[in-house]
Order: sequence, then structure tokens, then C-alpha cells
Amino acid sequence: AGTLGAQAAASGRYFGTAVAAGKLGDSTYSTILDREFNMITPENEMKWDTIEPSRGSFNFGPADQIVNHAQAHGQRMRGHTLVWHSQLPGWVSGINDPNTLRSVMDNHITTEMTHYKGKIYAWDVVNEAFADGSTQHRSSVFQNVLGNGFIEEAFRTARTADPNAKLCYNDYNIENWTDAKTQGVYAMVKDFKARGVPIDCVGFQSHFGSGGPPASFQTTLSNFAALGVDVQLTELDIAQAPATAYSNTVKACVNISRCAGITVWGIRDSDSWRSGENPLLFDGGGNKKPAYDAVLSAL
Ligand code: XIL
Repeated sequence: AGTLGAQAAASGRYFGTAVAAGKLGDSTYSTILDREFNMITPENEMKWDTIEPSRGSFNFGPADQIVNHAQAHGQRMRGHTLVWHSQLPGWVSGINDPNTLRSVMDNHITTEMTHYKGKIYAWDVVNEAFADGSTQHRSSVFQNVLGNGFIEEAFRTARTADPNAKLCYNDYNIENWTDAKTQGVYAMVKDFKARGVPIDCVGFQSHFGSGGPPASFQTTLSNFAALGVDVQLTELDIAQAPATAYSNTVKACVNISRCAGITVWGIRDSDSWRSGENPLLFDGGGNKKPAYDAVLSAL
């Protein structure tokens, strides 16, 4: 019983949500946020286009609002995200000199992590670097100009910037064990652990269709955890929010001791980036949906 956050905490886990700074003044929103959730991920405010819209000029205001809210309400933070091909300003995607791009990437990581040093539980250091249906990295300015080593470079830089934050690799479509993309990310994490490249966690975004997670999801979480990393469900939403699909997802995490917590990607259906699919735990009026009860009892 109780709340999502309290129920998750009873087994040493957290239950989080994505938050938009512009909604903190909405009292229906902030009431649910502060009652139910003990981990917060900024939905957009820590992305490169907001944080460093032009080279060397940093805009921390919107993310600071969220971090301040979290500190005032005893909530922890996930940092999202330092290196990603999307929501990336044109001044970065246009760089074609490797030395310049390396220094721009490292400076971005170091400056953003230093600003929030000591306030972030885990960072999504690199987001969505692998191509769908493949074991290889996707095309991006980082991949194309710096090569395969850009991910390792980002994690090493991140470890130096805030040695106490957990460093995660985060992606979608890596929930089904036999998918090539899952195998590609698994091979990377295995290689990082073997060579001492700093990585502490893998984030499974978990943007699911109405069928919910693949049958192998718990196996996937278990196999990654066996490499010596935490696993986290970082952006959970499920089309139409079927109670059983949510329940199956939560159970896959709860059955794995190294599954540290679950974050849903928004509070009310009306807050969702997939709002047409009503994929969240609260309806537009802020009322608990059947999926909410299913999650609470599965935790
Ligand atoms: C989404 C946000 O929810 C939207 O508001 C924004 O317009 C686009 O990005 N994977 C991620 C998240 O890692 O950052 C994305 O968030 C959803 C997919």
C-alpha cells in the first residue's frame, strides 16, 4: 500500500518520473509528483540544446529549477543526457574536426556534470548510440567524426567529472534478449567491464507497445546485471497502459536484485510525449488508472 516511491523503497529501489520544469507550478502535477515519486529525470532540460545552445554558453536555469525542487522534496535525480545525437544543436552537429569535437564533447560533459556535482544519483552519459536492428553504432556526428571510441571517451571523462555519480548507458529496443541491438550493447558493456572503462549501469528506456515487455525482458536484465552493472528502467510507458503489461514490467525488475529502480516517462497521460496512446499511470485529471494499482501491487 502507500505510494509508488514508498513501496519501491521497501525493497531498496526507487520509483521515478520524468518532469518538465514548466509544469512544476501546476498544483495537480506537483502534488502527485511529491506524493508518489522519489526520483526525477528532467524530460528535456538537461539535453544539449537547452544546456549549451551555443559553444561555451551554458544555460542551467530550467534544470536548476527541477534539481532545486527535488532537493526541497527529498527526491533524487537522474541526469539525462550528456551525449546524444538528438536535441543536439547545429553548432555541434556541424563540427567535422575530430580534435575540436573531442574537446567540445569533453567540455560539455565536464561543465554540466561539475555544475550538478553531488546532486545526481546517475547520469545517462551516452543515450541511444546503437542502430536499430544491428549490433553496430548508429550514424551521428560523434560516431562519424570520433569513431567507435567516442562512447568510451565520454564515460572516462564523466568519471573524472563526478566520481560519485553512477554512469549509465541508456537506450531503447534493447529489452528483447535476442535482438541484435541488445547483443551489441551487451558486448559493449562486457568489453568495458573487461577493460576497466568506467560504467555502472544500463538504462532500459522501456517504451512499450500495448503488449508490454518482451517475454525475455527479465532474462535481459539478469544477463546485463551479471556483467556487474546495475540495471534501471528509465523511461517506462506502455500504449494504453494495460494493467497486466505494467505489472509484468515491474515484476521483471523486482525479480532482479540489481534492478535499482523504475522511472515512468511522465505523470499524467496529458503530460506524455505519446499522449495519444494514454500510456501512463494517471489520467489527464490526475486520477490513478488501473495500471497504477497494478504497479503498486507488483512493487
Ligand atoms: C522526449 C521528450 O519526452 C519530448 O518532450 C521531446 O520532445 C523529445 O524527447 N528517448 C529519450 C528521451 O531518451 O529523452 C525522449 O524524450 C524520448 C525517447
